[in-house]
Amino acid sequence: MNHQEIPPEGNLTEVMEFVLLGFADIPRLQWLLFGLFLIIYIIILMSNGTIFLITKMDPALQSPMYFFLANFSFLEICYVSATLPRMLMNLGTQRRSISLVACATQMCFVLMFGTTECFLLTVMAYDRYVAICNPLNYLLVMNHRVCTQLVTGSWTIGIPVQIGQTYQIFSLPFCGSKEINHFFCDIPPILKLACGDTFVNEMLVYIVVVLFITVPFLLILGSYSKIISIILKLPSATSQAKAFSPCSSHLMVVVLFFGTGITAYLRPNTRSSEGTDKALSLFYTILTPMFNPMIYSLRNKDVITALRKLLCK
Ligand SMILES: *[C@@H]1O[C@H](CO)[C@@H](O)[C@H](O)[C@H]1NC(C)=O
Repeated sequence: MNHQEIPPEGNLTEVMEFVLLGFADIPRLQWLLFGLFLIIYIIILMSNGTIFLITKMDPALQSPMYFFLANFSFLEICYVSATLPRMLMNLGTQRRSISLVACATQMCFVLMFGTTECFLLTVMAYDRYVAICNPLNYLLVMNHRVCTQLVTGSWTIGIPVQIGQTYQIFSLPFCGSKEINHFFCDIPPILKLACGDTFVNEMLVYIVVVLFITVPFLLILGSYSKIISIILKLPSATSQAKAFSPCSSHLMVVVLFFGTGITAYLRPNTRSSEGTDKALSLFYTILTPMFNPMIYSLRNKDVITALRKLLCK
């Protein structure tokens, strides 16, 4: 990764705040983007809120799968709320400065919720794996205690690591440019502004990405390949298609989320890649949280039935 040259001793001015440029390179589209992201935020809040409500209230949706789905939709709301409101504020007011503390806080929450998202998606894939490959023991394996432990584990595992990682990044000296060409405080654009030696931080990022993104991704792919191999053994083509349809859409979202995440954090950083960085992170921070609830639930008959019941009341 490139980092800036350390300027000579005399003009080393410490940066006290950053400027989140966001989409400042397309000034004419500010209001359009504001409207677009506001609509996306409202969709995310409403769809995930609805799923959370019906999975908690409807007696027909009390299996482990819906227990995970409820927690997952709650997580999606937290995850997008770490980036979108700030982005909307920047677009709406055109004031872009952000203090170092606010920037660090935002980064820490994005990283923690992002980690939880990776692990919770893995738990949900494992849940499908048990349900399809070991249906007779499903409720025995996925008992209430195990479910709670899996969810609690997903939420807590990243907290100490990501707090440590954020602390390390923000103890680097920042001098010279304070413009972050991004729409939220993510690791790659901040590391670019540091003028100390970022080698240790970069190594830490690699390790964390491998442990928290790549390993869950491989586990998910493993679960789904098992599931697909079982499905292919089903007798009729229609039952194959029926069992396959939810899996294929889950896989699509998973590949999109993990693929863009891994690419964004592991690709070599050059100045010319900033536009691509922004586009990639739009996928893993905003677009997949928007599509997840639809894909995980609206293609599911029980959820549709529960939704009808709720609306008819
Ligand atoms: C999701 O699980 C975590 C960890 O167990 C818990 O703290 C949180 O309250 C749960 N969220 C909801 C809305 O159930």
